[in-house]
Amino acid sequence: MARYALLPLLAVATAVLAQDTATPLASKHFPYPSGIPYQADPGTGVRGTQQGYNLCNSTTENQQSLCQTSFVNHIDDFCLWAPPKGPDTIGDTEGEEVAWCTKKGHGTRLIPPGALQGVQYLKTPDYIQIVGFIDQTQINLLANDSGGELDPHGADLRGNPLGGLMYSNAFPSNAGNNNSFEQVIEWHNFMGGGAFCIKVCDPAGAHAADYCQHVFDRIGCAYNDPNQAQNGTFEVCDSDDADYPGVYTANGTVMTYVQPAESLGAISTMPYQPKVAASSNCVTYQSSALYTDLVSVPPTVPTSTGASAKTTGTAKSGSTPGATGSRSGSAAAATPTGASSGAEALAISTISGLAGVLFAMAFLH
Ligand SMILES: *[C@@H]1O[C@H](CO)[C@@H](O)[C@H](O)[C@H]1NC(C)=O
Ligand SMILES: *[C@@H]1O[C@H](CO)[C@@H](O)[C@H](O)[C@H]1NC(C)=O
Ligand SMILES: *[C@@H]1O[C@H](CO)[C@@H](O)[C@H](O)[C@H]1NC(C)=O
Ligand SMILES: *[C@@H]1O[C@H](CO)[C@@H](O)[C@H](O)[C@H]1NC(C)=O
Ligand SMILES: *[C@@H]1O[C@H](CO)[C@@H](O)[C@H](O)[C@H]1NC(C)=O
Repeated sequence: MARYALLPLLAVATAVLAQDTATPLASKHFPYPSGIPYQADPGTGVRGTQQGYNLCNSTTENQQSLCQTSFVNHIDDFCLWAPPKGPDTIGDTEGEEVAWCTKKGHGTRLIPPGALQGVQYLKTPDYIQIVGFIDQTQINLLANDSGGELDPHGADLRGNPLGGLMYSNAFPSNAGNNNSFEQVIEWHNFMGGGAFCIKVCDPAGAHAADYCQHVFDRIGCAYNDPNQAQNGTFEVCDSDDADYPGVYTANGTVMTYVQPAESLGAISTMPYQPKVAASSNCVTYQSSALYTDLVSVPPTVPTSTGASAKTTGTAKSGSTPGATGSRSGSAAAATPTGASSGAEALAISTISGLAGVLFAMAFLH
């Protein structure tokens, strides 16, 4: 169904590969822990070298860590991608994000206590989805950054962040063994607007790439990971699979959304409303019971004087999901991380603020 949307992207990918002969990040397999390389990225191409490393251990487990190996396991054990220095924007740092985690033992930074304000973890037949609310200034993001998408693809196929790897123990092949982690190839993570969403697809699933679609980088959590996450609530639920992102039914016909080019300006209307899949068996938790490893983590202090000069976002704080009283956890929308964007195309000014616009639409319906 999403096939025709992908055809032009293959052409882009082929053209880029011709200049950069590296193997795509999403085609590289590294068993954990024995096969983890120091860096998964070849270090060649227009975007420079991998900023951090994948080989992470007790010596790299601190708040300056540049670990770029993420784990997404459960509500109490997951990592988000965010800048190594800040405050900054996702759009300006997407190639260099590092892992910020909720649990010790992964060789990474930890998310400071209290930053997570509400988290919903859904387990479906084909993927896990974590949506939450966060004080993003505690993970080096500007308070007003409406953010964007991280995924292991990108126009040059080196991933955002470059060389970023992800592992999980959440899927049936690892059932019951919390110490066995498999590499997950298809995932996306939207960060920004005081919220985040991350979908990680079961590598054994026949449609992992469809459920974890990475080309709808401008339409945020509400469309990529429809949800009913609530600020202040920490819960784990079973859920049905949602429709593939971008796929909807209108007038009895199954359609695939085609995301307009950034050059056409902000996306101000959408032809469909995303559907939240049915969920059940929700169990709620106190955050203090979940995030015990975070208690003594110091608050994050700014490490740079502010956003880098090229930050030209136009998002107003009033356009964030938080300001609209979101109950649906809609996060970040805007950055050129999908395979449809050039690796060198870092300007996001025309599209920031989109998440708020789209969220407001969903909220009014
Ligand atoms: C720990 O990680 C660092 C950074 O990747 C690496 O230089 C070092 O060799 C690792 N140590 C061990 C024992 O693997
Ligand atoms: C595995 O981890 C989950 C969540 O992190 C925890 O609830 C569960 O008890 C763990 N299982 C075992 C066998 O330790
Ligand atoms: C569905 O049909 C109605 C009535 O013909 C039309 O106005 C509308 O644009 C159609 N919707 C889509 C998404 O094609
Ligand atoms: C976001 O906040 C930073 C720092 O306060 C400011 O420099 C920047 O202009 C703001 N951006 C927008 C789009 O409001
Ligand atoms: C979530 O709740 C916290 C605490 O009440 C609030 O500061 C924050 O703005 C809310 N976030 C969003 C995105 O609504």
